[in-house]
Amino acid sequence: MKVTVVGAGAVGATCADNIARKELCEELVLLDIKEGLAEGKAQDMMQSATLLGFDTRITGSTNDYSKTAGSDVVVVTSGIPRKPGMTREELIGTNAGIVKNVCENILKYSPNAIFIIISNPMDTMTYLALSATGIPKNRIIGMGGTLDSARFKYQLSQRLGCSPADLNAVVVGGHGDTTMIPLIRYATWNSVPVTNFLDEATQQQVVADTMVGGATLTKLIGTSAWYAPGAAGAALVESIVRDEKKLFTCCVQLNGEYGQSDICMGVPVVIGRNGWEKIVEFGLNDSEQAMFNKSAEAVRTMNDVLKTL
Ligand code: LAC
Repeated sequence: MKVTVVGAGAVGATCADNIARKELCEELVLLDIKEGLAEGKAQDMMQSATLLGFDTRITGSTNDYSKTAGSDVVVVTSGIPRKPGMTREELIGTNAGIVKNVCENILKYSPNAIFIIISNPMDTMTYLALSATGIPKNRIIGMGGTLDSARFKYQLSQRLGCSPADLNAVVVGGHGDTTMIPLIRYATWNSVPVTNFLDEATQQQVVADTMVGGATLTKLIGTSAWYAPGAAGAALVESIVRDEKKLFTCCVQLNGEYGQSDICMGVPVVIGRNGWEKIVEFGLNDSEQAMFNKSAEAVRTMNDVLKTL
């Protein structure tokens, strides 16, 4: 197996580090546009191999896509991150050109690759990747909901005083502060609905805190987060290369599912060797569906900006 991570910034490097530690592939390429950055981080990671006991060979490349040839999975993290006070949507002008260019270059050398898109605004970048490459929809996966669901479980674990590992909880919709939809009605603590344990006000607070999860960290750190985003990317790579068929919320193209079409948004999908293999319909109630439709409107407005660039 060969995996490429494009973008050797904090998210890309953390994702690569996780992939190597888990030995998800024999060959891992880190690529960045900044001279020497990917080579340096790749070497640094390789120097941890004997200490951590992994066998993955990591190499870096400054914008030489021929080094990525024959990749099975490609994680795209390129672009600028947000600064405190910025929304993910404000990044579109800069990141759209970068993501389109990256996807086209990758495809020249890895025509069968499965793409995992992390760059923001993630829903629109996933939609762009799909139109820029024209490859089958199952091979383009936006990571957002996987991260947001992990953050949702974290927030629930804090309120319940339990292990996040015992929780099941999903966030669907867009990957924006106002567009994501933490589905608390479906969240469980070892199969028991969390709504059995949390009062209405606490439930609402958990949902609100989840929605601004990324913004809260950006304010604290001064730039966008990387540990959980990198880990979420690696978890998707793992489910693909090991054909685990795990259920993750990912941003994928909808063709009538969840009442939407011609859009990429976060819904529960089975992730395996063929990319996203199946959309699982949860059966939203009327108010959840209304939120999903509103979220779709916002994502669509952002997608329309692509036409003006
Ligand atoms: C975040 C970025 C990766 O939510 O979108 O932290």
